[in-house]
Amino acid sequence: MIEHDDNSYEKLKKTLVEKFEDHFGTRPFFLVAAPARVNLIGEHIDYCDGFVLPLAINRHVMIAATPNGSERANLLSLMLPNQPATVMLDEPPKVSQPSWANVIRGVFDGFRNKDFWPLPGFDAVIHSNVPLGAGLSSSAALEVAAATMVESLLGIEINPKNKALLCQTAEHKFAGVPCGIMDQFASVFGKKDHMILIDCRSEEAQAIPFADDSVEIIIADTRVKHALSDGSYANRRKHTEIALSILGKDSWRDVTMEDLLSAEPNMNEQVFRRARHVVTEIDRTQRAAMALARGKTETVGQLMADSHKSLRDDFEVSCKELDIMVEAAWDIGEAGGVLGSRMTGGGFGGSTVTLARKDNAEEIMQKMAATYQAQTGIEPSIFATTAVDGAHSLGL
Ligand code: GLA
Repeated sequence: MIEHDDNSYEKLKKTLVEKFEDHFGTRPFFLVAAPARVNLIGEHIDYCDGFVLPLAINRHVMIAATPNGSERANLLSLMLPNQPATVMLDEPPKVSQPSWANVIRGVFDGFRNKDFWPLPGFDAVIHSNVPLGAGLSSSAALEVAAATMVESLLGIEINPKNKALLCQTAEHKFAGVPCGIMDQFASVFGKKDHMILIDCRSEEAQAIPFADDSVEIIIADTRVKHALSDGSYANRRKHTEIALSILGKDSWRDVTMEDLLSAEPNMNEQVFRRARHVVTEIDRTQRAAMALARGKTETVGQLMADSHKSLRDDFEVSCKELDIMVEAAWDIGEAGGVLGSRMTGGGFGGSTVTLARKDNAEEIMQKMAATYQAQTGIEPSIFATTAVDGAHSLGL
């Protein structure tokens, strides 16, 4: 299915406010939004001090809320309306049921650790148009939206970097995924018409103009769901830590290909391949950021293809469906308007990202959908997106 994002932000806002009024019988006081992200390149290296190049996309988690004068947060998610959650705000939050609210409990806990406690009670309705399990970081968008909500409620703004880190900690402690900083940083620091180059060693985010407005960003969701908390993600992270300790270095940024080749005899073959992905992907990401900023799309296409192959063969986080979707784009090729394509996000299912000539985008999406469906029997969900601003509060 090809989806068109026309007005999706406004529609999301309208439904959210209406449902809030239906449910709580009053207009919300606060309304906040946090975007999802797509990563152009730099995969599985945010937890290796690498560079990553995501952008915030026009898919959001929105929260409407109003103070209720109690010690509780009453949370209703329109995606899971049968599972409302109540969180006590005068005792330390703990992982509990319903599980969808755990990362929000984690965000509250982050504010508690910053001495903003107890939080004032509030009623909230949450809505989202971020597909779940599609590798577009719906979880980070929920965390960042929740943190932005709490900021509104308290009438404060915490330092954006600390806000992103607070959300990352919520993911670690309350969802059990030892993620890097990319998703939360992209959702906080996103900027309209810009990609965000994140230096994961210094934890600095730099907005770089997406130079070429004749280029469309296409996201193709394979509709095969991944589960990062099943241990595969943690396992890959572990392999990179083992490799770094064999290399005897403090940071991947100090590791050269020569270092890696001389340490190869001391590593098992699998750990060596994981390490090779990290070293080559850090290099590719820096080169891609430069090439993209200068509109050198040919170089970018090659780097994206190399990134995908490295994730498929060395890091082993791709899957049959992702490979089929990426190959469908590669087969259309430059002549058909495809500039580059690769898997995006954590992997094991989820989405691919494709850069395409705007004039050919519609046709490319149709072709990718048809090829993928013919080969897998699964109907994908494909849409074009744009780079949007990071988390913010909205007027009502
Ligand atoms: C997930 C994690 C990120 C990052 C990507 C892979 O999205 O949350 O921190 O590691 O996988 O690049």
